Amino acid sequence: MFETIKLCPPDAVFGLTEEFKIDCKPDKVNLSVGVYKDEHGRTPVMRAVHAAERRMLAEHQGHVYLPIDGSPGFNQRVAELILGSEHSVILEKRFATAQTPGGTASLRIAGEFLKRQCGVTKIWISNPTWSNHLQIYRSAGLELKQYDYLDSHGTGIDFERIYRGVENANSGDAILVHTVCHNPTGVDLSREQWDELLRLISKKKLYPIFDFAYQGFGSGLDSDAAPIRRFTESEDFTGEAIVCNSFSKNFNLYGERVGGITATAKTAKTAAAMLSQIKLIIRTMYSNPPKHGGAIVERVLSDDALTKDWKTELDGLRARIQLLRERFVEMMTDQLPQADFSHIAKQRGMFSYSGISAEHVDRLKREYGIYLLRSGRVNIAGLNHNNLDYVCNAIASIMR
Ligand SMILES: Cc1ncc(COP(=O)(O)O)c(C=O)c1O
Repeated sequence: MFETIKLCPPDAVFGLTEEFKIDCKPDKVNLSVGVYKDEHGRTPVMRAVHAAERRMLAEHQGHVYLPIDGSPGFNQRVAELILGSEHSVILEKRFATAQTPGGTASLRIAGEFLKRQCGVTKIWISNPTWSNHLQIYRSAGLELKQYDYLDSHGTGIDFERIYRGVENANSGDAILVHTVCHNPTGVDLSREQWDELLRLISKKKLYPIFDFAYQGFGSGLDSDAAPIRRFTESEDFTGEAIVCNSFSKNFNLYGERVGGITATAKTAKTAAAMLSQIKLIIRTMYSNPPKHGGAIVERVLSDDALTKDWKTELDGLRARIQLLRERFVEMMTDQLPQADFSHIAKQRGMFSYSGISAEHVDRLKREYGIYLLRSGRVNIAGLNHNNLDYVCNAIASIMR
């Protein structure tokens, strides 16, 4: 019976990492997968995470099930981190948050929720986008629609195109927006562009899903959340949104699978009804979330000293990536003055659409063991001062 099953091609990102592992080139560099690496090429355990884990180990609380929607303390902290503790939605309890296994699960739950509870059949997603978005919403049974995101160079924003694309959506459709550090491009909207887009989303009565996987990697924890905060408090806007956040990146807790879904509503009563439906979806998908990673985040965000230390370290991660961006542009300008890489320093977060062609990406892998996605997406956080020279020399020699 099973012999009719066809072999599925490997995941574009994880498949490359498998290839990287068996590549024997001594100076190989993996710039494909979206994981932060430090100067030594390691993904560090953050200081506050370490401290929280030490305390948790000392207190060992056992391995009981969490509630379906996760820990209430975690959920409150998450909503506050996204919206700010003084936001009217928080004060009036007009939100429903559930702890989820990473941002991926929360995105899927959002799709299921909008389909079952709001009758949504279509979702609008930027082109390009994180490739998993397309699979997640196809699996949730939604029809995919895309709006073009980039200018003709493929490295900067074309807001007119975005606006025109979203204008084609119909009332009752969902739209997914990258709140900050757009993956794969690193290209974000300005404040004015956000407000224009959010007004259009409200006017057309679309259901927005804010994918918030990189809070703290753009310009800061609060400023990165600004589009969500403005949308959910302004009278121009409907005030109703779903936010899917992840702690994979900003806590370096990738494998612990920690994230959340937060839905905002006009009343506390509606929020409670929404939570009950979200719980029903979770119960049939994975019953309840894993405990350890969420407990770390809750511990850090419930302790002023640990929160302060976490923020300081996160600021450092962001500053280091920015420095690498600037250094990369300087080195490429020295090596290859005729090519323009200045967009790399303007883009934000871990990723950049470098403008390197698929053919050159293939050669970088084959000749130098340097791995990026064929779209030209580079994980800037995979660079360091030891491999930067090697990478820039290789790119220059191939493009020359
Ligand atoms: C844009 C975007 N959304 C969501 C996620 C999901 O993150 P998680 O690993 O927490 O599931 C990622 C991870 O790479 C991402 O890049």
